[in-house]
Amino acid sequence: MFQPQLIKSILFLLLFFFIALPAQSLDDKTLENEKISGLLAKMTIDEKIGQLAQFNPDARPTEAGLKEIIRQGGVGSFLNAGSDRETKEKLQRVAVEESRLGIPLIFGRDVIHGFRTIFPIPLGQAASWNPLLVEKASAIAAREAVQTGVQWTFAPMMDIARDPRWGRIAESLGEDPVLAGELAAAMTRGFQGNNLSDPNRIAACAKHYVGYGAAEGGRDYNITFIPEQELRNVYLVPFKAAVDAGLATVMSAFNDLNGVPASGNAFTLRQVLRNEWGFDGFVVSDWTSMTEMINHGYCADEREVALKSLAAGVDMEMVSESYRNHVKELIESGQLDQKYLDQAVANILRIKIRLGLFENPYPVPEDKSVLLHPDHLQTARELAGQSLVLLKNKNILPVKPDVKTIAIIGPLADNPLDQLGTWAPDRNPDDSVTPLQAFRENAGGRKILFAKGMEKPRSMDRKHFSAAVDAAKKADVAIVFVGEDELLSGEAHSRAFINLPGLQEELIAAIAATKTPMVLVIMAGRPLTFPTQLEQADALLYAWHPGTMAGPALYDVLTGAIAPSGKLPVSFPRTVGQVPIYYNHRNTGRPPTADMLGIPLGTPEDPKGYVSNYLDADFTPQFPFGFGLSYTTFTYSALKLSTDKLLPGQELTVTVQLKNSGLMAAEEVVQLYTRDLTGSITRPVKELKAFRRVALKPGEKQDVQFVITEEDLAFWNAEMKFVAEPGKFEVMVGGSSADGDLLKAGFVLEKQN
Ligand code: BGC
Repeated sequence: MFQPQLIKSILFLLLFFFIALPAQSLDDKTLENEKISGLLAKMTIDEKIGQLAQFNPDARPTEAGLKEIIRQGGVGSFLNAGSDRETKEKLQRVAVEESRLGIPLIFGRDVIHGFRTIFPIPLGQAASWNPLLVEKASAIAAREAVQTGVQWTFAPMMDIARDPRWGRIAESLGEDPVLAGELAAAMTRGFQGNNLSDPNRIAACAKHYVGYGAAEGGRDYNITFIPEQELRNVYLVPFKAAVDAGLATVMSAFNDLNGVPASGNAFTLRQVLRNEWGFDGFVVSDWTSMTEMINHGYCADEREVALKSLAAGVDMEMVSESYRNHVKELIESGQLDQKYLDQAVANILRIKIRLGLFENPYPVPEDKSVLLHPDHLQTARELAGQSLVLLKNKNILPVKPDVKTIAIIGPLADNPLDQLGTWAPDRNPDDSVTPLQAFRENAGGRKILFAKGMEKPRSMDRKHFSAAVDAAKKADVAIVFVGEDELLSGEAHSRAFINLPGLQEELIAAIAATKTPMVLVIMAGRPLTFPTQLEQADALLYAWHPGTMAGPALYDVLTGAIAPSGKLPVSFPRTVGQVPIYYNHRNTGRPPTADMLGIPLGTPEDPKGYVSNYLDADFTPQFPFGFGLSYTTFTYSALKLSTDKLLPGQELTVTVQLKNSGLMAAEEVVQLYTRDLTGSITRPVKELKAFRRVALKPGEKQDVQFVITEEDLAFWNAEMKFVAEPGKFEVMVGGSSADGDLLKAGFVLEKQN
């Protein structure tokens, strides 16, 4: 008998089965393993060692010499093989058509915050607290990058950064492990998609593994000391999140971690990454980070470098050539077990197979409409808009309709290069839309005056000051774009002073003296200190380096087309002397008390007590983690917990009512923190556990819910176990990490019976 219902159900089940299938099925895995062992069986020891080598082709003397090495199977990967597709295709052709086994090369490049369409620097993206949009931006970056034959990016960077002196804080996702983890996972998904073999996606690389952001004194490449619990509870968290998101590769860092350099560290690379997390992709060293172990004083020579790195679990060597020069002899002399070589080769081949390089080794067919596609620019505008953080507003923003004349001032008002930020090798400043352009294009009936005031942010001369002051005098409002040149942040670009560089502070004072209402827009690669300028300004918008669409995004927010909604992903110190200052610190035995608030900067007071603070600076940051104003107001109320006793294995629902109590539609990032009041090791005063972006119209209310489980409360404890310890917890929900912005409630995590 014909049973349409039954057939429908079967079809539905089949469909469900296919949709629910993981990206890689068991069959795929078996085929993959067979392919790897088949290749390994055919490879000579030299061909195996070749797979471990990553060259920068610029460093090779001649093209003919390079091709010969490829032909011999002497290299497995290139980084920065030109910005064009032709070079990559030419080299790949030699590998695939002329080498004995035809194993394809893999081409890597730093696609950090966009390829041609440049998005905000990663720290700015983190200020959006919007994983979906960040994922979309990474997918766009991948789609553009594959146009030139890039197959693998050295991103996302997820080093926890608590020190704004460190230049690479710009590339980081801030100070919080949960926020950085969610965004790192989002970027991983964006770059890689559901299936690495998708021709529009590229392999991601989590870097810099691990602890690199904790460089002593904020000096790049400096040593780091991170106790194991802190390493696991903070620094490793985003890496684990990226691995769980299906990450293909990991980069071992430059730093010395507790005495063992990260590129020779078997504990982090084998024990944690492989044994505990089950990572099955490959590890690439950072640029010569392996041979730098000689300078660290961890290896006597290149031979020892090769021995220690391969045994520790670095699969591919970037730029330096210790593997090429020494692994064969180390194995033949019996000092290095051949299994380490085979494992490393297998890891690299696995990712090449998953990327589909054996079937599709060459760049995708060229499509000229992809780079800077209007949709990409629109996403860049949206993400830049959401990354802007309003830090002060004395009812001057958005610019009022009756404002007739606007003075656009400052070295970053019309600076197409610096607005793009650090680490964007494929950027083209000609693509940039600057704030001045955006204001001029949308002037309507308004008069737009312009005076740069200074040539660049670092300039030390006043010759353009008077024109800037004149422009401010003639205007109803002055919008002053200041900050950092892009090259003041990024790798090896740390600063000991983190105030506005050059004579910008003087320029701002001169504009302030005109008494024309002044809006400061700061574009920078790090949190800067600007206490006096904050007083002088009527409004202050923190813009990071916003990318190609900086102008339109800033125009949108400054004129009120959208309300600002970014929140700080990192605490802002009042003075560099407070560094490191971060919200999820531990309490000490003598925490400062409320009567210590308000100590003026730089003027030592009589001590008020024996507590942990400074005599010449407030103990609080200038702006706390999670902070950011809107043009509307949000009211939090009615914090409710579904229970005040959480039993192991059960859930606790936290509900808060959020109301847009102002006059403008806007988005708010609702943040949930917990505090574990007592532990077998001391616990942070607050830890972010969850967050959500919520859009509300004026007057609109919404119940926002979060679910907390025992696992959310777990941490690596005194016995180095990942457990939630029974006892009292506090839950805090609100619009920033500052106590005054949070509603609080408590619950008890009960013991397992
Ligand atoms: C940086 C990495 C980067 C690599 C390749 C190194 O100097 O530390 O972040 O991916 O160079 O360009």
